[in-house]
Amino acid sequence: MKKNEIKNKVKNEAEETPEEEVLFTSLRAKDWKEFYGQKKVKEAIRIAIAAAKKRKEAIEHILLYGPPGLGKTTLSHLIAKEMGSNIRVTSGPAIERAGDLASILTNLEKGDILFIDEVHRLNKVVEETLYPAMEDYALDIIIGKGPSARTLRLDLPQFTIIGATTRIGLLSAPLRDRFGVVHRLSFYDPKDLEEIIEKAATKLKVPIDKDSVLEIAKRARGTPRIALKLLKRARDYVQVKSEGKLTKSLIKEALDMLEVDEVGLDSSDVRYLKAIIEKHSGGPVGIETIASTISEDIGTIEEVIEPYLLQIGFIKKTTRGRVATPAAYQHLKINLPKQIKQDKLI
Ligand SMILES: Nc1ncnc2c1ncn2[C@@H]1O[C@H](COP(=O)(O)OP(=O)(O)O)[C@@H](O)[C@H]1O
Ligand SMILES: [Mg+2]
Repeated sequence: MKKNEIKNKVKNEAEETPEEEVLFTSLRAKDWKEFYGQKKVKEAIRIAIAAAKKRKEAIEHILLYGPPGLGKTTLSHLIAKEMGSNIRVTSGPAIERAGDLASILTNLEKGDILFIDEVHRLNKVVEETLYPAMEDYALDIIIGKGPSARTLRLDLPQFTIIGATTRIGLLSAPLRDRFGVVHRLSFYDPKDLEEIIEKAATKLKVPIDKDSVLEIAKRARGTPRIALKLLKRARDYVQVKSEGKLTKSLIKEALDMLEVDEVGLDSSDVRYLKAIIEKHSGGPVGIETIASTISEDIGTIEEVIEPYLLQIGFIKKTTRGRVATPAAYQHLKINLPKQIKQDKLI
């Protein structure tokens, strides 16, 4: 394959390919030892599990939130494993009707875990059916229609819901309040990412040197899924180019081709920053305006683009909108205009 062909192939794969999905599943941490970083969350969850086990009860409902690719799904499977429970996997949009939820819930056994991904996307009716189920392990079903309709209360076994969301802000307060344990997953330190990459390289039998590991970790924007994706794509590139070991210069070449720069920004991040800097003189500018400037969906901006830029201090959120920081100007090698005063950043 030529460079361009590879590039096009990669470009068309903003989402995971089925092959990558399989890869991620196969690389999923099988035990706590393989789940690196997130120390506090891990510890708190393990304590909650130990306590539940001691009381011989189901663990409290758990809500995990944070940007995509930080390990919410992986963590849920680990929790189920440690509890010795079955895990049923579903997602907010997949449960269309209250009846769908009822059939899932009535099929659960005591101690089972129901993992609901994208839990912010449950519809209102389903969500309201879930309240008594979460609170009292009961399901209120309406039988019949019109004046003869009556409600029947079904008892459910003790079970645990693990909800995952990238958009905690979109979760209704009543639903959020019904989760006894709430944890935010944060971006990973480079050190943790290095361990994740090394472990994955071993599992994939990819020979890789320390410099290459560091290079990938640096560009993975604090996200294990991106680190694994870059590792896989770098491996493909190197196999095509040299059939050899992953070395720093080849990695650099591969990653440059993928348009991921030294701090992990890709073309959408750069377009976003340039929209603020070049089209709106550095901000403050509202998210709706940025979204229409770069024809990007607001959800994607809030969920995928902004969290990392905030984390590395390239933007700030103010009451009047988003502002690009001097660090962003410097990174993009754009001169900081004199009239940009620090007060913009407050
Ligand atoms: N802490 C971690 N240690 C090792 N691998 C991780 C960790 N977190 C995530 N991963 C890997 O990254 C990939 C994406 O994780 P996933 O759990 O699907 O993220 P999320 O559900 O938050 O989008 C998986 O292949 C997983 O094995
Ligand atoms: Mg997930």
